[in-house]
Amino acid sequence: MEIDVLTLFPEWFEWFTRQRHVTNALADMARLRCVNYREHTPLSGGQVDDTPFGGGAGMLLRVDVVESALRAHYALDPVELRSRRRVIALTPGGRLLDDALVDELAAEPALTLLCGRYEGFDERILEHFASEQVSIGRYVLSGGELAAMVLCDAVLRKLPGALGDAGSSAEESFSAGLAGAPEYPHYTRPAEHRGWRVPEVLLSGHHRRIAEWRRERSRERAELLDRSAER
Ligand code: 6GU
Repeated sequence: MEIDVLTLFPEWFEWFTRQRHVTNALADMARLRCVNYREHTPLSGGQVDDTPFGGGAGMLLRVDVVESALRAHYALDPVELRSRRRVIALTPGGRLLDDALVDELAAEPALTLLCGRYEGFDERILEHFASEQVSIGRYVLSGGELAAMVLCDAVLRKLPGALGDAGSSAEESFSAGLAGAPEYPHYTRPAEHRGWRVPEVLLSGHHRRIAEWRRERSRERAELLDRSAER
């Protein structure tokens, strides 16, 4: 998988790409590159943003700047680019990132992530260059960079070889392996701490009963989540 991130802050991703699980995924299964809008701006003084027509607070990323960054990187009209690969603009109002969308994206050969800054994007970027908009939750971050990292983290750890144990993503929270339910509770040594005992069944070595216990706990948690979502 090939991920390109267009951003004004490529240095934010240096820390991210040094993390072990990311390094592992990037070693052979994936590649992550950053493109700095500012290095491709056709405007003087490295300008990339401007004030909104009609007035209002903040600055918007300019459509001509995003166009030249995409053209320089792909040698292709960005309008054409989005029919060849998913070009995702990170916006607070976009499609919510969940396990199903992560699976969908992890199956793609290539992704392009557009990070906005300031008040966001000129609408024409979203309309003509992006194939879709993705959000990581209904709150506003000061830019798309952290959201892009969240998306990359969630996608990269789904790739084979990214996790130490290949089984650990099949039965994790919200996966199809658990019918979309959150994960069951986990325990490790010591078996008792301050009188808090690990459930006996987990120490029993009885695999069928352990599997049953885990399914039940997972189902319970799903019900709790449903109830809190209704409120
Ligand atoms: Cl993708 N971008 C911004 N700026 N804020 C967000 C977000 C994205 N997702 C949640 N909040």
